[in-house]
Amino acid sequence: MQLKIALLGGDGIGPEVLAQSVKCLKAIEETFNHRFTYIEAPVGAIAMSGSGQPLPDSTLKLCREADAILFGAIGALEYDNNPEAKVRPEQALLKLRKELGLFANIRPVKIFPKLANNSPLREEIVMGTDLVIFRELTGGIYFGEKKISSDGTTASDVCEYSEKEISRIAHLAFKTAKKRRKKLTLVDKANVLESSRLWRKVVTEIGRSYPEVTLETLFIDNATVQMMMKPSQFDVILTENMFGDILSDQGSVIIGSVGLLPSASVGIDNAMFEPFHGSYPQAKGKNIANPVASILSAAMLLQHFGLDEEANAVVSAVYKSIVKKVVTPDILGSSKYGTDYVGDFISENIVDSDENRSINDENIGLGKSTII
Ligand code: IPM
Ligand code: MN
Repeated sequence: MQLKIALLGGDGIGPEVLAQSVKCLKAIEETFNHRFTYIEAPVGAIAMSGSGQPLPDSTLKLCREADAILFGAIGALEYDNNPEAKVRPEQALLKLRKELGLFANIRPVKIFPKLANNSPLREEIVMGTDLVIFRELTGGIYFGEKKISSDGTTASDVCEYSEKEISRIAHLAFKTAKKRRKKLTLVDKANVLESSRLWRKVVTEIGRSYPEVTLETLFIDNATVQMMMKPSQFDVILTENMFGDILSDQGSVIIGSVGLLPSASVGIDNAMFEPFHGSYPQAKGKNIANPVASILSAAMLLQHFGLDEEANAVVSAVYKSIVKKVVTPDILGSSKYGTDYVGDFISENIVDSDENRSINDENIGLGKSTII
C-alpha cells in the first residue's frame, strides 16, 4: 500500500516521540512491503514563532492532501500562563479537527497487565480495563457561539448539537461495540441539559438497529465515579466533546501512565492520529518522554487502513518492550532507557513479528491484539 503521511510534530516532546513512530512505520514498510511518504509541517507554538499562525495555511493544505496525519503534541508554557493571549497554539488543533471534519475521536484505554501496579488505583480494580471512548470532536461547547460582554464581566459558550452530528458518531460507536463485548454506555447529563436529552433520543433510536448491543446510559458525574470504582465494566463509551475530553484523561490515569495511550480522530475523508498526552514542555529535548503513545497511534493509523497484521506487529513489539522492561523512566523509575532507545528497540522488533506474537501469547495473554 502507498500512503502519504503528514507529520506534525508540534511543540514540547511532540517531535521526539513522533520520530520514534516514524522509525516504526519505516520498519513496517520494510517488513510488509509498503511505501509510505512522509512530509513534515509546522504546527502550534513553534509555527507561531515563524508565521504568527498556529496552523499555517500551507500546513492545513498538506493535511487535506495527505492520506493521514500523525500528530505529536501541542501547547507551550508561555501561553498556558497567559490568559490574555489572543492566539493560542491549541487553536491549531481545534481548527484542524473542524476543517478536516474529524468528528469522531477514538480513545482506547486498555490496561497493560504487567504495568497494573503503576496505577494510582489498586491492582484488582484496574485489572481487566479494556474500554474505548468515542468522543464527539467537532461540536458541542468547544465550537458553539462564544460571547463576552463589552465590560468583560459576563461570558458564555453555547453547547449545541444536531441530530446529524450525534448520529454519525453513534453509528461508529455501535459498530465498534458490535465487534467487541457488545455494550455501549452513553454518557450525558440528560437530567439537566437539553442537548444531552437530544443525544439520548437519537442514540436510543439508533440502538434499535443494533439489537445485539446493550445500550446503557449514565450521567457524567456518575460515570466518573464508576470509572474509578470499576473501569472493567465499560466496553464502548459514547459521549459529547467536553465530557469525552475529561473522561479520557481520567481513563489514562487509571492505567498508570499518560504516556501509553494513543488516539485516532476520524472523519469521512481524513484521519489524524496522536497520543493522549500533551506537549510536556519540561521534558523537551531530555530524551525521557515515553514514545509508546505515539507509536501506538501509528498502529491505529495502520489499522485505519485495514493493515491489521501490520498494526498487530507494532503492538506486539510494544508489548515486548514492556515485558523486557525496555521502557522510559515514567514506567520504571530506575530505567536507564531514553526515548530514542525505546523507539529503536520497538522498531527493530517489528521486523521479526512471529517471535513477537509468541511472546504475547506466553507472557501477556493479549490474544488478538487489536487496539480497539
Ligand atoms: C485533547 C486536548 C485538547 C482538547 C486541547 C489541547 C485543545 O486536551 O485532545 O484532549 O481539549 O480537546
Ligand atoms: Mn484533553
